[in-house]
Amino acid sequence: MNKIIIAIDGFSSTGKSTIAKQLAIKLNYIYVDTGAMYRAVTYFALENDFIGDDFFHSKKLIQNLDKVSITFRFNDIKGFAEVYLNGINIESDIRTLRVSQFVSPVATLSEVRRMLVKQQQLMGQYKGIVMDGRDIGTVVFPEAELKIFMTASAETRAKRRYKELLERGHNLNYEDVLENVTTRDRIDSTREDSPLVKANDAIEIDNSELTIEEQLDTIINLASHNISK
Ligand code: DC
Repeated sequence: MNKIIIAIDGFSSTGKSTIAKQLAIKLNYIYVDTGAMYRAVTYFALENDFIGDDFFHSKKLIQNLDKVSITFRFNDIKGFAEVYLNGINIESDIRTLRVSQFVSPVATLSEVRRMLVKQQQLMGQYKGIVMDGRDIGTVVFPEAELKIFMTASAETRAKRRYKELLERGHNLNYEDVLENVTTRDRIDSTREDSPLVKANDAIEIDNSELTIEEQLDTIINLASHNISK
């Protein structure tokens, strides 16, 4: 069977990772969560005081990017790859609202994007990969055989994210989560370098009213046309 690249892009909290993860398991493909890589750089910036509530020393962050090594290691118990920063597992540290609040400004930096895009392209060089993010079908793999663009209303997405964070034991309120989702949408779609846009050849799926199984069936159906070509 020929292996393909599946690019899944879309707004924050559209459930891209959930679908991409399960898709990769079903197809026996590698799954890469590129948002985790931007979050890892953001975590590094916060830890080193390059960014904070009222400052962003972007030049310092850029100068120190050679100290950032991001790797993924598969966790057999959880069934997916976790992200490591310089050899330390930071999978749960990057999922906080604090990291979410600073990740979009960090992701506007071209130097950060260039470094991460290069790494993502290497990970997909042998195909057989499901990658989710914002610019996978437009910048990272413009030649991907299958491109999906996920959407859902901001309220639906904020409710999902809120529930997920509560379940993980975070203490927060829904308004802050909704505000974070809409602010990130705005920054991600209007930034100069690689803004979040739907690729011309991407297939849009609004999953506000779809179950995970329905989404998986749709995408596997679409993928099977490319895999058997
Ligand atoms: O998918 P996520 O919510 O974990 O992504 C976090 C942020 O990272 C998102 O708000 C924008 C940025 N991002 C990006 O700019 N390009 C990507 N390919 C993936 C994420």
